[in-house]
Amino acid sequence: MQGAGSPAAQLLLLSCLCGVAAGYPFRTPLDLDVTPRVTVLTSGLHGCRRFQSSAVNYSTLLLETERERLYVGARGAAFALNASDISASPALAIEWEASPEQKRQCLLKGKDNKTECFNHIRLLQRFNSTHLYMCGTHAFRPLCAYIDEERFVISSQPEEGRDKCPYGPTTGYTGLLVDQQLYTASQYEFRSFPDIRRNSPSPTLKTEDAPTRWLNEAEFVGSALVKESLDSSAGDDDKIYFFFTERSHEQTTAYSRSRVARVARVCKGDRGGHLTLQKRWTSFLKSRLTCSLPEYDFHFNVLRSVFVVHGPAPQDTIFYGVFGLEWKNVKASAVCRFSLPEVQDAFRGPYMEDEDSGSKWREYTGKIPDPRPGTCITDALRARGINISTSLPDDVLDFVRRHPLMSQQVQPLDRRPVLFRRTTDYTHMAAHMVQGLDGQTYHVLYMGTDEGWLHKAVEVKGQLHIIEELQLFEEPQPINNLLMSTEQMSLYVSSPSAVVQLPLSNCHRYTSCYDCVFARDPHCAWSGAECVEVMTQADRSALIQDIQHGSTGCEHTQYNVVQRSRSVRVGDDVLLQCELSSNLATPLWTLDSGEVEGYDLNSGFRTGTDGLLIIEARQDQSGLYVCHAVENDIRVAIVTYNVTISLDLPPPPPVEPTSGPFLTLSTPSPRLSLDETLPPPPAPLLPHSELLSPRNMEAMYLSLITILTGICVVLTVVLVYVGFCLRVGRRGKYSLRAAAAAYPGAKRNNRNRKQRRHSSHMELNTICNGNGICNGGSKLHNGSIQNGGLLEIVPGEGHTSSFKESPPPAPPLPPIPEHSSPRCDFTSGLSATLPSVLRRMNGNSYVLLRQSETEITSPNGHSFSEELNRILEKRKHTQLLPRPDESSV
Ligand SMILES: *[C@@H]1O[C@H](CO)[C@@H](O)[C@H](O)[C@H]1NC(C)=O
Ligand SMILES: *[C@@H]1O[C@H](CO)[C@@H](O)[C@H](O)[C@H]1NC(C)=O
Ligand SMILES: *[C@@H]1O[C@H](CO)[C@@H](O)[C@H](O)[C@H]1NC(C)=O
Ligand SMILES: *[C@@H]1O[C@H](CO)[C@@H](O)[C@H](O)[C@H]1NC(C)=O
Ligand SMILES: *[C@@H]1O[C@H](CO)[C@@H](O)[C@H](O)[C@H]1NC(C)=O
Repeated sequence: MQGAGSPAAQLLLLSCLCGVAAGYPFRTPLDLDVTPRVTVLTSGLHGCRRFQSSAVNYSTLLLETERERLYVGARGAAFALNASDISASPALAIEWEASPEQKRQCLLKGKDNKTECFNHIRLLQRFNSTHLYMCGTHAFRPLCAYIDEERFVISSQPEEGRDKCPYGPTTGYTGLLVDQQLYTASQYEFRSFPDIRRNSPSPTLKTEDAPTRWLNEAEFVGSALVKESLDSSAGDDDKIYFFFTERSHEQTTAYSRSRVARVARVCKGDRGGHLTLQKRWTSFLKSRLTCSLPEYDFHFNVLRSVFVVHGPAPQDTIFYGVFGLEWKNVKASAVCRFSLPEVQDAFRGPYMEDEDSGSKWREYTGKIPDPRPGTCITDALRARGINISTSLPDDVLDFVRRHPLMSQQVQPLDRRPVLFRRTTDYTHMAAHMVQGLDGQTYHVLYMGTDEGWLHKAVEVKGQLHIIEELQLFEEPQPINNLLMSTEQMSLYVSSPSAVVQLPLSNCHRYTSCYDCVFARDPHCAWSGAECVEVMTQADRSALIQDIQHGSTGCEHTQYNVVQRSRSVRVGDDVLLQCELSSNLATPLWTLDSGEVEGYDLNSGFRTGTDGLLIIEARQDQSGLYVCHAVENDIRVAIVTYNVTISLDLPPPPPVEPTSGPFLTLSTPSPRLSLDETLPPPPAPLLPHSELLSPRNMEAMYLSLITILTGICVVLTVVLVYVGFCLRVGRRGKYSLRAAAAAYPGAKRNNRNRKQRRHSSHMELNTICNGNGICNGGSKLHNGSIQNGGLLEIVPGEGHTSSFKESPPPAPPLPPIPEHSSPRCDFTSGLSATLPSVLRRMNGNSYVLLRQSETEITSPNGHSFSEELNRILEKRKHTQLLPRPDESSV
């Protein structure tokens, strides 16, 4: 990190981020920190295909849709896959690993034998109609080779790759083959300067190092050919654009700007200069790409990747950039979008000048030689007899040599990021445009994270709505590359362990009209019976879609509501479950048509996003409870409970002796029951069934015992004094969730959930989470089952409260909470949170509740946890014996 790692600076940054995210003191039109509407885990993915082999580090991707081929470069191997189904066999493979002798020499150079002393394929491009060209790091001695595409073999002796390929697997690099000319940009050798090169035909062209260094510790992330000659009335040339982050030349005062994102370009027809700039580019110019939240003077300086959307004409080209911060321990991403005309404008604007070769760069205001330095050869120049760059006058070339940097910065479209997210590091993205049924064109974005998740988003009225987040890999791992094919309607994602192919949309995930419309996915619409891919429908007149508002169209559609009844005894705690599949929905409960006030201290009710808690039930609380999900101001009933509260009940079923003192489960995980023979539940939003299978119960108990034993060994001492809290319920955390749900929007709640998941350091997968295959297979319903049988133990989960309420936010990596005793959280996919559980854990949950105390306050100013504490404290003296379960019917 470049000199900016001082704690003070980071603190400043954090508070800045915090202020930004809280929208304080200003409200910004940009919806900061967008929450994904739906969360889908690997077990819930549909239509997803995987390619895996003995090779690792899949990185380079080359897609040729007309040939239906996806070429993949990995460590020591390259593959040719069928693009319509990458898992279809047989996959063609070329094994190309460095020889043992080469690896030994690599070790002698002091390189890492776990990462660097292998042949990582860094370049894979089409050369001509029959051959591909590939380069690999080859254990720190790069080689390149031609591939006979038909037979998929290396067709000639590998050749020297030193000038075309970096030595290491992680060095910033980009390469393009255009008309059999290879353009590459990297810091090739260990100590060499970064360079943009054209290796053939000769002469090889490079960037200049003296007297003015054109590139400064540049980390390249991408390049693109734009065929600007196509619609040019001026006889312009095609250009190659390079994207990178480098150390800033410009003098700045702000600490955060030691690195800057850049776009540079060269002309395809460049042949170098005659005397001045011989074998150097005569058309190299670079400019700064800005991606910032202007009202905060807050800048994303590190470019992580670019995605180029080619429009109908070259001028319609759009560059999407994924930006990050200079501090690697602060998670944040922004996506900015740049138009080609604005990039061109910057290259036509004023130059910067380095006064007396010092560090003072300022705008050059002197005379600019003619023809304008850095331009391609155009008709106007040809008319003057200059038809090749070697004919350019010396004074022009000398000016080029000293003025590589433009003064004007390239601003993003709309002058602000398309997206800002605080908790996620995006690595790569893809985008395309989709015509909605309303006739409008929508940008749909797919973004991959450093932990193996994919976010799909749509831009509506300048705001980004994240339709879903998909967990592509069970093991967190960075997404190395992302490609999209509208012909195959597929996304291709490469990562250290596999290549994944996903459909661009999965509308069948949405099982009701409201769910389909709330999703606001331009690919999806409600047909009257199901949520369908618009593409597949010939007659689109009756389809229902509302991308603009995500609310209208379903007023007259029917949907099912789950009906349940429950009988309990007076004085018991009862949890009426109601899980919302949407992270953007808030729960709303009614009792006999009147709204249940879940925040009032004395009401005896508490609402959470997974249910309603009736505390110490009274007889007058009997009645018909209805759980609604409120989203986009629309209230959708999900489940009804007919609750009877009486003084006496028939004897309860015996409690399993193995259940331990802390936990009683009377229902299996919903996923288990669905995997068995149960019919799908009637309501889309609440697929839980309350049947139980003894076999599953047994497995569950066994796992629980195993886990509990493990915990005991580790935490015996702590347990004695503090106890631990044991939680059941899909997203666990009743108290936290319940409290967080007190907010409209439930966004913070979602964040809690997400951060818990992302920050879990110890995770035990048991019972039914074994299938790592993304093609879930079983007919699972939406959201609520996504966590499946995930049983995770999360010691020291970060206290991830909303930062609106409690600035400054916790640093992003607190594995151990400082202000609480060690404890463990027990979260499982078993949505069967029993009423009795709460009661039994009274004494133990005290610590947890205390912990959340300072973080969460309800809208009317009451601290939810404080209040629960009080209840529990009060009762600590009166109860302790486990009570038999309340019956549920
Ligand atoms: C290659 O993959 C392995 C695990 O699959 C990972 O540990 C390693 O960091 C990867 N190396 C690179 C250069 O990506
Ligand atoms: C790819 O697979 C599809 C069906 O899975 C098949 O129709 C097609 O011929 C295959 N293409 C190639 C190039 O093998
Ligand atoms: C890497 O080198 C270390 C020591 O130099 C050795 O112990 C280890 O076995 C080597 N690993 C591999 C994969 O070769
Ligand atoms: C493509 O390039 C390869 C390697 O130079 C060469 O052997 C082959 O003949 C070329 N094919 C065509 C169709 O030109
Ligand atoms: C440039 O013009 C000269 C004569 O004016 C001609 O000989 C040469 O071939 C031209 N070069 C190109 C690249 O068009």
